[in-house]
Amino acid sequence: MKKIMIIFGTRPEAIKMAPLIKIFRKNKKVEIKIIVTAQHREMLDQILTLFKIQPDYDLDIMRSGQSLTTITTKILLGIEEILRIEKPDLVLVHGDTSTTFACSFAAFYQQIPIGHVEAGLRTFNKYSPFPEEINRRLTACLSDLHFAPTETAKQNLIQEGINPQNIYVTGNTVIDALYDTVNNNYQFKDALLNQLFDSQQKIILLTTHRRENLGKPMESIFLAIRDILIANEDVRVLFPIHYNPLIRNLAKTIFEDLEGIYIIEPLDYEPFVNVMSKCFLVLTDSGGIQEEAPALGKPVLVLRDTTERPEAIQAGTVKLVGINPDSIVTETNYLLHNHRAYIKMANAINPYGDGKASQRIYDLVLKYLGVQ
Ligand code: UD1
Ligand code: UDP
Repeated sequence: MKKIMIIFGTRPEAIKMAPLIKIFRKNKKVEIKIIVTAQHREMLDQILTLFKIQPDYDLDIMRSGQSLTTITTKILLGIEEILRIEKPDLVLVHGDTSTTFACSFAAFYQQIPIGHVEAGLRTFNKYSPFPEEINRRLTACLSDLHFAPTETAKQNLIQEGINPQNIYVTGNTVIDALYDTVNNNYQFKDALLNQLFDSQQKIILLTTHRRENLGKPMESIFLAIRDILIANEDVRVLFPIHYNPLIRNLAKTIFEDLEGIYIIEPLDYEPFVNVMSKCFLVLTDSGGIQEEAPALGKPVLVLRDTTERPEAIQAGTVKLVGINPDSIVTETNYLLHNHRAYIKMANAINPYGDGKASQRIYDLVLKYLGVQ
């Protein structure tokens, strides 16, 4: 039996690989081995528990405040050993994290074919997102199968000289996971969330974690949030805060004594997407949330200067507002106070897939391996 190895390490990779793992498991046509680098720990484990995924190997590399070099070298060494033992026929990686790049690199060193899920997203800016833009480009160089979520992503790969015969537009598996999880009748287990969404307040959902935003840019974002809350009594900000200590320390300093902000632990995926579907507006620098919120009809203001996901901007549900506090405050106030502008953005559109991306990727992998 042919063997494939599915490798991931962070929360979003786990969410987006889970629907694919489900199909491989159900059909039992190839042997699958699940490897987690655990570049994330708690945030990864939340997803493994939800989707009942038990890894065959767990590198358990995460350390507080880890550097890019440490992540990359630990993974390279750890994965080499596993690849030697397991000798898979194909390795599947996802997206643009340091796990993605390091695992592809390790597989390449042993001349094992690589399939890249969510290939081809680009900003064309080397340092934004950092280091994800380059992680994704390097992974493209190393991969044999490129599963592009959109036609735009496919064109980006072609422009870089990737053979079009190896690129497949599949949609994004994030939509498969979302459709399986959002439920209009969902009841939160957490009393605070029920209380917030039963109130008459407008709830802004905030998330932020990008490395290029750490430090001054994040300070600007937080100061803008302060201004928004001080100026709008009917607004509450819900902030499931990333575990990165740099983010936590800054938030503590800037939001101390500020009313109207609820800083909570990262939410499990199920309550999180249901929060997203009930909130008024999303402010974020996340990649995945830029794909999910449009499908739920939620306007998103992106706290970055660039995005590798232009499709939802073109569709009008997502707007890049950058990290300048004036611009964040102005754009947020505009949506809070201008009903027509809000309604224009709050359209459920979904340029990222029809919920069947995993099935397409599964079929393509089987074909590649010659499995009937
Ligand atoms: C990583 C990815 C980023 C992705 C994000 C998804 C890289 C370089 N970055 O960024 O592309 O968008 O994941 O969330 O690959 N931490 C914990 N527990 C956790 C997770 C993180 O304590 O479960 C803390 C640790 O102190 C860790 C720090 O957060 O050192 C940063 O984690 P890291 O994976 O390096 O960066 P992220 O910003 O999470
Ligand atoms: N998410 C979650 N709980 C949270 C915040 C986000 O489950 O508290 C989910 C979200 O629905 C999306 C993914 O995590 O699927 C996005 O992860 P993140 O923003 O960390 O990474 P990125 O997408 O930017 O790589």
